[in-house]
Amino acid sequence: MSPKKDILGRLFEIEKSAVKTIAEADDIETVEALKVSLIGRREGRLSEILKKISDLEPETRREVGAESNRIKNVITEALSLARERLALAKENQIDLADFTLPGRQTWEASEHPIIRVIDEIWQIFQSMGFTRVRGPEIDTEWYNFEALNTPLDHPAADEQDTLYLRGSGLLRSHTSPVQIRTLEKHDPPVRVLAPGIVYRRDTYDATHTPSFHQIEGLVVDEGISFVDFKATLAEFSRRFWGPNTRVRFRPSFFPFTEPSAEVDVRRIVMKEGKEMETDWIEVMGAGMVDPNVLDNVGYDPERYTGFAFGMGPGRMALLKYGIPDLRMFFQNDVRFLSQFSRDRV
Ligand code: DAH
Repeated sequence: MSPKKDILGRLFEIEKSAVKTIAEADDIETVEALKVSLIGRREGRLSEILKKISDLEPETRREVGAESNRIKNVITEALSLARERLALAKENQIDLADFTLPGRQTWEASEHPIIRVIDEIWQIFQSMGFTRVRGPEIDTEWYNFEALNTPLDHPAADEQDTLYLRGSGLLRSHTSPVQIRTLEKHDPPVRVLAPGIVYRRDTYDATHTPSFHQIEGLVVDEGISFVDFKATLAEFSRRFWGPNTRVRFRPSFFPFTEPSAEVDVRRIVMKEGKEMETDWIEVMGAGMVDPNVLDNVGYDPERYTGFAFGMGPGRMALLKYGIPDLRMFFQNDVRFLSQFSRDRV
């Protein structure tokens, strides 16, 4: 083997083993000792080798010199990385054997109660064959009112109630426009659930917030009857509010349904260890889809019928969990939110 090959071989050998042992060092004394034994000026292995460099041809000498410089840099870099690594480890060190140390607080994420309620409602309708859809929060007067058989001089369309955008458009004041968008895109049979956020000009207090969640439901097909309507919503109500819940359909009015109803429930709750029936509570608006609505999206109301419903999961969460103030949903206080972990409620 030529002296050049021999010396380069030994240099590479040092490089390889040095990088490995430095990376494995687990205390700072070892690192400093490695520095001395590898690149120390007097006894370092690199210096030992370079002592023999004068035996080489000038040409080879230059090459070997450059190579050994590079290796010295690699080793220096590896040493300083090891120092940093060990300093960091020391900083984060805890004495595992010290049982007097207080435990660390761990936080468990939990779902927001409104999202939980939306999910529970969705599970029930999903099991009845509904599909989940969504629509835009910025919409037009056509979708939010007119297509839903609500003339623009209706009080709901008043600027007192609806947030209009400068120029054109508005923030949807209910999720009902998703009914129209769904029927435009899909031919019956349609069975959809559309949760989403809506906006109204309301002051922020215990029972009103200017933006809140709604869930819209729509079923349209040939032969959908009032019996389907009542049975579906009664079944949903008992599954959501409890099997012994009483359900009542109270005549009402909405421009986009005919006939319209408000759905009330009387739930069984525990009070002072005893079962007790609540008063009638209103939990949703609903009705048979008005023929004008079907006509507005191009379906023959003689052939197709359907029903629709709308509910407020925020209000439902208030009732279900006995929350006193709607604003608690928006304050993001972890002490409040963490009570709604799945395994806790
Ligand atoms: N959009 C109504 C509201 O915001 C709620 C509603 C009532 C939705 C009756 C419906 C319905 O789909 O059939 O007050």
